[in-house]
Amino acid sequence: MDTPTTTKPGDFARLFGIAEEQLPEICRRFASTLDYECLLPSKEIRDEVMLGVVQHIDSDKPTRVGEQRAGIWESCWSENLESFVSGGHDLERLVPKFIKPGQPVRLNQDYVFPRNPSFELDFYKVCRAFLFDRYFASVKSAYEFGCGSGFNLVAMSQQFPDLNLYGLDWSKSSYEMVGMLAQSHGLKIKGLPFDFFNPDRALDLDPESGVITMCALEQVGSRHEAFVDYLLAKKPKICVNMEPLVDLYDETKLVDYLAARYHRKRGYLDGFLPHLQDLATKGRIEILEIKRFYFGSLYHEGYSYVAWRPL
Ligand SMILES: C[S@@+](CC[C@H](N)C(=O)[O-])C[C@H]1O[C@@H](n2cnc3c(N)ncnc32)[C@H](O)[C@@H]1O
Repeated sequence: MDTPTTTKPGDFARLFGIAEEQLPEICRRFASTLDYECLLPSKEIRDEVMLGVVQHIDSDKPTRVGEQRAGIWESCWSENLESFVSGGHDLERLVPKFIKPGQPVRLNQDYVFPRNPSFELDFYKVCRAFLFDRYFASVKSAYEFGCGSGFNLVAMSQQFPDLNLYGLDWSKSSYEMVGMLAQSHGLKIKGLPFDFFNPDRALDLDPESGVITMCALEQVGSRHEAFVDYLLAKKPKICVNMEPLVDLYDETKLVDYLAARYHRKRGYLDGFLPHLQDLATKGRIEILEIKRFYFGSLYHEGYSYVAWRPL
């Protein structure tokens, strides 16, 4: 292993494209108290990591996302729900298992080895807080579609305690778990059923609301139009999709090329950004920002985002 490197508040600000003084207080607090030190791998170790990634992509381990995975998500969240209840509603139990601790991660189009086993989660916390601050500070209600355990909504409620929160998912255990947060922690939150493939047109949104998806719309592959149509009809104030956005990779670079190959093997979100860009050209929506954090897990970057609003 070679030189250690760390990400300081100023580096986060640069990554977000803002001056250091504009870094929201909550981001500064995470950035100056959590451990972001990483080791850069030597050439041999980097080769080993990449070989492992290629072998994983070429194996039958990466499963394809889609409608057939409803049962798998249900059993994932029912396990989480059981653990949440048996653990006395401990909020730490909501951290999803797909954020794997102790692995090399992607940073600045390279692989790095964090000292802190929770690096990915801790780095994500800064990006998520930045995103919430940027787009949810002036809405009255927030809806997370494909909310899973609800751990993002808990973070949002800590940042904006007055917000009315809604967690929606096609998994019953997911929206039941979210509903429990109202009684167990006094949050202003509701859990509701919702299926990206068949959006319930009867479900209206508060006009002063923000909509967010976080590593969730990825699960529909190329079938994102029904959800976008639903949002166009319901006209929330702002929509933010923090998802793997394959169009943002620079596939002339090996690390990005591997992420794109992984993305396609899993059948993640396909044609979403071009669809939004087409809607923007037609004057149906305004795209406010498209951003890549240049940070992700071992196999890809799930944390890029597009912010837009229906017109
Ligand atoms: C990778 S998890 C992300 C969960 C949460 N947003 C987070 O960041 O922890 C993907 C989520 O999308 C949900 N999901 C997958 N397909 C869906 C569909 N067709 N409709 C609604 N939710 C879906 C899953 O149940 C799961 O909760």
